[in-house]
Amino acid sequence: MKTPEIVHSIANLHARVGAWRKNGARVGMVPTMGALHEGHLSLVRETQSRADKVVASIFVNPAQFAPHEDFDRYPRTLETDAEKLAGVGLDLIFAPSVAEMYPAGFATKIDVGGPSLGLETDFRPHFFGGVATVVTKLLTATLPDVAVFGEKDYQQLMVIKRLTVDLNLPVEIVGAPIIREADGLAMSSRNAYLKPDERAVAGRMNVVLNDAVARLKHGDAVDQVEAFGKSDLLEAGFNSVDYVAVRDAATLERIARLDRPARILAAAKIGGTRLIDNMAA
Ligand code: PAF
Repeated sequence: MKTPEIVHSIANLHARVGAWRKNGARVGMVPTMGALHEGHLSLVRETQSRADKVVASIFVNPAQFAPHEDFDRYPRTLETDAEKLAGVGLDLIFAPSVAEMYPAGFATKIDVGGPSLGLETDFRPHFFGGVATVVTKLLTATLPDVAVFGEKDYQQLMVIKRLTVDLNLPVEIVGAPIIREADGLAMSSRNAYLKPDERAVAGRMNVVLNDAVARLKHGDAVDQVEAFGKSDLLEAGFNSVDYVAVRDAATLERIARLDRPARILAAAKIGGTRLIDNMAA
C-alpha cells in the first residue's frame, strides 16, 4: 500500500499530469475538501474505472463558506486522508494552500445561473459562486479527461455540469451515486459534527425522502408531497427545514407533476448541523 505523492503547487501538479499525458494516459480527477469517508473513496474507484491515472484534490475552499459558517472548524485530516487514498491505489494528491489557489490580488469569480438558482442559493447565497470558481480553477489546473462528483451534492453536480458546458471546458463530468450508512444516512464529512441523539434523528431524513418518492409515484401532487416532507422532518426531530423540493432532474426547475425524471431534494438542521440529501423520483 503505497502512499500517493502529495503536491502542493500548481506547477508540480502540471509536471506530474504532463508526464502522464506524455505516456498517453487518460487522466481522471476527484475534487474534495478532505475529511474523506467511504463516499469519497467510491468516487475514486469510479474515476479509476474511467481513467488510467487519478488525482484527488484536497482543499477546504474558503470562497464557498459564509463568515458565520464552519470554515475554521471544518475537519482537516490530510495524513489520514492520504492513508485512505493509498488504500484505494490513488496516484496523486493535490493539496494546495489558500495562497496557492487565491494569491494576493485574486479578483475573479465565476457567476453561475441556471441550476444554481433557488434551493441551496436561497439559504447559502455565496455557495455556488465559490464552488464554481474553485472547481473551474481545479479543472483548468489539472485538465483531466474526466472528473467525478457525488450525487450527494446534487445541485452542485448540476451546476458543475452546466458550467463546464458553458465555459467549453474539455472535461467529462460524471455523477456517482450517494453512499449511505446502514440506516440510510447519506455519508458526509459533516456527519462527524452530530451528537449521538442527533445522529439518530439524522438517519430519518432518507426515510422521509423515500416516503415522499413513494407518494409522488402514487400520484400525489408535488406541493402536497413537499409539505408532507417538511412536516415529517420536523416530526422526526429536525429543528428546522430549509426546503423539501421536487425538481426536474436535469434543470432543477420546478415541476407541477411527476411527468419526467425528477429529483427530490431536502436540507434541514439538527442542532448546529445542516444536512442535505436527495433521491431520484
Ligand atoms: O463537494 C465538495 O467537496 C466541494 O464543494 C468541492 C466540489 C470539492 C469544491 O470545493
